[in-house]
Amino acid sequence: MYRTTYCGQVRSAHIDEEITICGWVDRRRDHGGVIFLDLRDREGIVQVVFDPDAGDFFAQADRVRSEYVLKVTGKVRARSEATVNPNMDTGEIEVYGTNLEILNTAVTPPFQLDDHVTVGEDVRLKHRYMDLRRNEMQNSLRFRSKITSSIRNYLVDHGFLDIETPIMTRATPEGARDYLIPSRTHPGQFFAMPQSPQLFKQLLMVAGFDRYYQIAKCFRDEDLRADRQPEFTQIDIEASFIDEEDIMSITETMIRGIFSEHMNVEFDAFPRMTYADAMDKYGSDKPDLRIPLELVEIKDLLKDIEFKVFAGPANDPTCRVAALKVEGGSEISRKQIDDYTKFVGIYGAKGLAWIKVNAIETGIEGLQSPIIKFLGDDVTMNIMQRLDAKNGDIIFFGADKANVVSEALGALRCKVGEDLNLYTCDWAPMWVVDFPMFETTDTGGLTPLHHPFTAPSCSVEELKADPANALSRAYDMVLNGCELGGGSIRIHDQSMQEVVFDVLGIGEEEQREKFGFLLDALKHGAPPHGGLAFGLDRLIMLMVGADSIRDVIAFPKTQSAACLLTDAPGTVEAAQLRDLNIKLRVKEEKPSS
Ligand code: AMO
Ligand code: AMP
Repeated sequence: MYRTTYCGQVRSAHIDEEITICGWVDRRRDHGGVIFLDLRDREGIVQVVFDPDAGDFFAQADRVRSEYVLKVTGKVRARSEATVNPNMDTGEIEVYGTNLEILNTAVTPPFQLDDHVTVGEDVRLKHRYMDLRRNEMQNSLRFRSKITSSIRNYLVDHGFLDIETPIMTRATPEGARDYLIPSRTHPGQFFAMPQSPQLFKQLLMVAGFDRYYQIAKCFRDEDLRADRQPEFTQIDIEASFIDEEDIMSITETMIRGIFSEHMNVEFDAFPRMTYADAMDKYGSDKPDLRIPLELVEIKDLLKDIEFKVFAGPANDPTCRVAALKVEGGSEISRKQIDDYTKFVGIYGAKGLAWIKVNAIETGIEGLQSPIIKFLGDDVTMNIMQRLDAKNGDIIFFGADKANVVSEALGALRCKVGEDLNLYTCDWAPMWVVDFPMFETTDTGGLTPLHHPFTAPSCSVEELKADPANALSRAYDMVLNGCELGGGSIRIHDQSMQEVVFDVLGIGEEEQREKFGFLLDALKHGAPPHGGLAFGLDRLIMLMVGADSIRDVIAFPKTQSAACLLTDAPGTVEAAQLRDLNIKLRVKEEKPSS
């Protein structure tokens, strides 16, 4: 038998018992002829003491080094009062070692586990099996396991069946680039890895399974950020004979349940906001409602001024002029305003006008700003009134294409909220509803805001008449400014699906080629259905307070979509490429004459 208990679970109740434990040497200290070993396993660390009475075992204890794997037998005893460590779960006891077996040695670790911050993420990812030994990583992945287990229980209790869907499949249009797999048996042809199980879960509804879920790997070849990985996990859900209210209620109850069970956080019913309101007030379709700042439209006040920077957009229906008031923000320095101006530049803003309110009771004299002279006194005071400006406030302005202003001021709102720590609460969950069906592309065409299987909230005729203004039956769950999940009621009617493809400019041939199987299935008695998918990695990231989803994934990829541990992607043998009928393009070298 290897062990009688985990290292981290030895307690005062074990005093005088002989136990056997196994684990890694976290630390070895030599205290004047007595050797202390901190032995670590999944559950924690316990202190083991060897003195010269242990004979050979004492000599062996002297030889062990960091990260050696040991099996130790000994008697649990109370620590003396002076040596009790109240910061350790096992701090009241120690194990007096009587037997030691070195199960394995270890080379010098690439970094000390408590030095992970200084070594940088690349080193951690290269030696991920070492990095994962750290307490923080162990805790995050254990937490993740508990959450998936709760989610499975909840969904099974609510009648959802766990059904797997293929990884080698056809493209699923979720808006990203596909990862492709070449086929050996079909020369020149490729599988696509799923961007989500979307089409298969709809087919499972046509097949009559009624309620499906899957904790599914999804693959998207897109630009990576802290909350995006090329390979990530969805909690994927679909159900039949349900409407928006049903699916939102089932999934909201699930999220409330796991926050209550695992975080001791009780949520009220999630507030709902239309997409239009979210964009107007927060400049974002995933507003962070912890921050009490709002954008205010001031277009109508600026139509008749001379200042072209504002008057131009104020008279252009595709533009927006908005203000963001930050209470107490007049302390913000010029240097900081310059930095914010650069920051909004990332979103395409050409400038960031501002007014500081020093003494509003003295009227225009009490304001400080580079733009008042362009706005005129009356217009300026009208703006102050609309914003209910008070002494100590700063007001920022954006004037440009509507999406530029929304994105720039929306991002500024979050940045200022973070910099000035304006958060009013720890958690702000919400739903965004009434999304537009489509958005306009740079070339003037329409593209689905979600995916092309989302049902519109209007009739076929209305959709045909005015597709650009049609709304969809989609909903997103947002937590603290992060899109946690999204879904919709689907189109279950073949004629509606064809109209949507038409609007998107997907011709009949392309429809058959790409989605023929779906259109056929919709002819065979597809029930009304809908669903949602959560980003599991994002959910765990928010719950454990990590900065990146990489910290809650055992073996994540880097920003450039590589795995430093296995060195993937890698080159392959020429023979393998030949089998796959693939010829690599090489830069032709010009023959030297
Ligand atoms: P969507 O594309 O919104 O919807 O994805 C659902 C959720 O998955 C998470 N997510 C990601 N997480 C990490 N890295 C990524 N690259 C990444 N991309 C998305 C987000 C997102 O909210 N089939 C639909 C769902 C449906 O309609 O039922 C879909 O995939 O948290
Ligand atoms: P300018 O006339 O370009 O010197 O701009 C005067 C002020 O307006 C400066 O504070 C600029 O940062 C600001 N500004 C310029 N363009 C815009 C814009 N599109 N939106 C908001 N502020 C702007």
